[in-house]
Amino acid sequence: MARKIVITSGKGGVGKTTVCCNLAVQLARQGYRVIVCDLDFGLNNADVVLGVENRALYDILDAVEGRCRPKQALVSHPRYPTLHVLSSNRVLERYVSPQAIRLILDSLAPQFDYILIDSPAGIEDGFHRAASCAEEALLVTTPHISALRDADRVAGILKSYKFSAVGLVVNQIRRERRRSGMLTPDEISTALRVPLVGIVTEEDKIFRENVVTRSRAFRALAESCVNLSHAAKRRLK
Ligand SMILES: Nc1ncnc2c1ncn2[C@@H]1O[C@H](COP(=O)(O)OP(=O)(O)O)[C@@H](O)[C@H]1O
Ligand SMILES: [Mg+2]
Repeated sequence: MARKIVITSGKGGVGKTTVCCNLAVQLARQGYRVIVCDLDFGLNNADVVLGVENRALYDILDAVEGRCRPKQALVSHPRYPTLHVLSSNRVLERYVSPQAIRLILDSLAPQFDYILIDSPAGIEDGFHRAASCAEEALLVTTPHISALRDADRVAGILKSYKFSAVGLVVNQIRRERRRSGMLTPDEISTALRVPLVGIVTEEDKIFRENVVTRSRAFRALAESCVNLSHAAKRRLK
């Protein structure tokens, strides 16, 4: 039965989709059966980041409205056969209820190991729809003050969801951080009261290629996620 993990942040542009897609690739490389479910209806781009944007015949709205079976809406990745994308290209700003999405994901869950849910920025309906479809959460932030403030608000809201596990990913760490006086990932984890499960430095290669197969950081993140329920499992207090 798939573990459903929402990747969320508060602030836009901090790397939710990047983390979601790279994590998915690392899990698929280990043989796990993975779905990336794009619930960022406004700015959906998980299919582009994973390079499958021209392969979708159907999307999640087609599955919700019964034009195809849920499995037909999955696009399999040409390079990683166990990796699938459930895109939302045609949803636009249409209202889709959280219950409808949950039904689709529940019907797919028995045949997969992970469903990674990419959520929109903000704390409005789209965020709640994504969060309510998951049982675990990854909170992504950068060390920048504006991202941290939004992450703090989201961490507070995540409490009310009673997730079985919540982990923090600090992204876009600058190598020259010492001089910039920014908080360390451990300090951020302490401030947000969310256990740290991943640290990703700012890399031109990530910016250029979106998905970096041989990334030690994303491999380590995948390892932490596999063990999330053991090592970092801790309800937000
Ligand atoms: N660690 C990183 N190093 C370099 N560029 C990054 C990194 N993480 C994300 N980016 C870039 O930042 C931009 C925003 O990332 P994205 O994952 O789309 O954010 P979000 O989904 O939170 O809006 C993208 O252009 C992405 O390539
Ligand atoms: Mg995104």
